[in-house]
Amino acid sequence: MGRKPKDQTKNKTTGKKEFVRTNKPIPRLRGMRDVMPEESRYWELITSKAENIIKYYGFNKTEIPVLENLSLYERSTGKQTDIVSKEMYTFVDKDGDKVAIRPEATPGLVRSYIEHGMFNLPVQPVKLYWIGNLLRREKPQAGRYRQFSQIDLEIFGEESPVVDAQLILVACNLFKDLQLNVEVQINSIGCKECRPEYVKKLTEYYKQRRIKSKLCEDCKKRLLKNPLRLLDCKEEGCEEIRQEAPQLVDHLCDACRDHFVKVLEYLDELDTPYSLNPYLVRGLDYYNRTVFEFWPNESQPDSAEEEQIQNLQGRQGALGGGGRYDDLVEHMGGRPTPACGFGLGVERMILKIKENNALIAEPNKPDIFVAQLGDVAKRKAMVFFEELRKRGYKAAQNFVKDNLKAQLELANKLGVKATLILGQKELMDGTILIRDMESGMQEVYDFKKVFEELDKRLK
Ligand code: HAM
Repeated sequence: MGRKPKDQTKNKTTGKKEFVRTNKPIPRLRGMRDVMPEESRYWELITSKAENIIKYYGFNKTEIPVLENLSLYERSTGKQTDIVSKEMYTFVDKDGDKVAIRPEATPGLVRSYIEHGMFNLPVQPVKLYWIGNLLRREKPQAGRYRQFSQIDLEIFGEESPVVDAQLILVACNLFKDLQLNVEVQINSIGCKECRPEYVKKLTEYYKQRRIKSKLCEDCKKRLLKNPLRLLDCKEEGCEEIRQEAPQLVDHLCDACRDHFVKVLEYLDELDTPYSLNPYLVRGLDYYNRTVFEFWPNESQPDSAEEEQIQNLQGRQGALGGGGRYDDLVEHMGGRPTPACGFGLGVERMILKIKENNALIAEPNKPDIFVAQLGDVAKRKAMVFFEELRKRGYKAAQNFVKDNLKAQLELANKLGVKATLILGQKELMDGTILIRDMESGMQEVYDFKKVFEELDKRLK
């Protein structure tokens, strides 16, 4: 018996820290998830479909570090945003550097674009994609985790509205491929020329005493720190108040209005439906002009019971979102470079696919099983299995099991079409048994003809 591990705990009577022996399992942290093999099939499905589509549109894969300087996010995502002010995991490392675990990918990709002088690349605009984990210390609930994954696309160096429309189209193509019914919500939040004037008007509206007194506590803070976010408050009272508020689209400068109209025209041309959402502002500091989000089209509940179930499951929120950020590269120390991008939440897409009960084919599902009986036959079967792999057959085995019945049961569970059985007798005769798993019929074949017979059966 090994020694039990020691854990430090506080003695409740003396208040002193003591070491006690314990072998209690250590649970995973709140808001963290394990992806079990059954679920990893969905991951493979989503990422392989996404990469097929993304690459078709000329995006190249890129990687960025998990850890970055804290100041990267403070300067780009924004100090006042929920992500940076409340949700980021930060610490001072042993060199005394203030670092942060990435809560979103865009700042890292912008840093990488600048650091590697990507404006010099021969093919412009630069189209990058990234798939990976992010951490945000949010309140965990259905579809909201502290560690989650995104598929992130960014285009650097192009200001044409074609880019905004094409990004939205790429995301919609992926949703269609995954049979997800999604609504594109879109808005324009103007630029540094026209937005300040709008924000002034918005603040004047919200500062009226009869209105301010009815705002929720968060919105009272937003009024001082980030008035645009007043528009996307989900509190019922605040939703009512905003209906009378001045609207962004009415205050766009000519260039921003022209840009927005063109994005919508391209989407119309590409038969990509969208809904205008005048209250969509996004929660990050760097956006300008076009902003968009992808929301699942929830089916209307047929009964009170169904509504209750939907409420219990909770609205898991947007499947993705993004927009333009034409000033960020320069703000982060690079040349003036227009840019646009979006991020899609992988876990939320999986939840929706599961809700739709979409059947997912098991990748690498074997077609045949190799069973063996006796020590010499086992050795031959192991070599034979390697030959099957080299020739590209999808085969399964369990060479640690000696009992034939147990091996056939496993073959059944795996749903293979045929089991190839090698025993002492077959070895002596230079033959092999092939069992059709559906009919249970077994036939003897010359070992030399086994591949020919397999090809016939698996056709
Ligand atoms: P975001 O809206 O913060 O944007 O996140 C994009 C998507 O990530 C969300 O719509 C959601 O599907 C998923 N997501 C966010 N937080 C969580 C969470 N706690 N648990 C599960 N899923 C979550 C960005 O991150 C921007 N960087 C997107 C972007 C790229 N904008 C321009 N380029």
